[in-house]
Amino acid sequence: MNILVTAGPTREPIDPVRFIGNRSSGKMGYEIASAFAREGHTVLLVSGPTSLDVPDGVDFLPIESANEMNEAVANHLGRMQVAVFAAAVADYTPSTVAKEKIKKSADAIMLELVRTTDILGSCRSEHGFAGTLVGFAAETENLIAHAREKLTRKQCDLIIANDVSKPGIGFESDQNEVTLVYPERIEQLPLASKHDLAHQLVRAILMLHAEKCAAN
Ligand code: PMT
Repeated sequence: MNILVTAGPTREPIDPVRFIGNRSSGKMGYEIASAFAREGHTVLLVSGPTSLDVPDGVDFLPIESANEMNEAVANHLGRMQVAVFAAAVADYTPSTVAKEKIKKSADAIMLELVRTTDILGSCRSEHGFAGTLVGFAAETENLIAHAREKLTRKQCDLIIANDVSKPGIGFESDQNEVTLVYPERIEQLPLASKHDLAHQLVRAILMLHAEKCAAN
């Protein structure tokens, strides 16, 4: 099968040397891409900047901004059976990018931010994607309620919810602890290395895909 995985952070440029970013290391998404490839699938990994090596057997498409990630997904989604969105995409980007480095002068400056495209949220509505659609939810409160809201609003088959306020899991760490939020049920997975967890997630996603195909 053809599988799309997004991973890592996006960088939203302010001027030629500065950007708005986030703490995603890319580890979770890269492990998922690698686990799908080891299962024999054709994987396209669309990734923001990370310090990780590209996993063996994975096609790699590097991007920087949310806008570039959106274009990459739009260009490739049509041939995918499964899409997994592990990237931490900026929800806002500067409305203008300064051509030259912004010089220090005033005591305070204002930065106007505008919404980026919800890439996961546009898969069904904009691109008519009919495959298995899996998102993540990075939450600091009301984990399951917020994940359920994202499952419905973004028309996903599964949301993988992680509580990013807990030390030792989520952003940057080598471990994660997630809850799988399906339309009809939830399943909590125990704390595990991102490597081991990725295998569990891939098994769950492939089972979900098989059930979806059987039902159609
Ligand atoms: O990279 P690591 O350091 O290993 O950390 C892993 C992780 C914490 C980044 C990962 O497990 C995770 O939770 N990724 C999603 C982070 C996030 O941005 O969550 P969100 O709740 O803001 O977004 C919900 C979903 O919509 C995500 O699938 C996200 O990829 C997607 N999204 C969000 C905004 C946007 N403009 N476009 C999107 O596609």
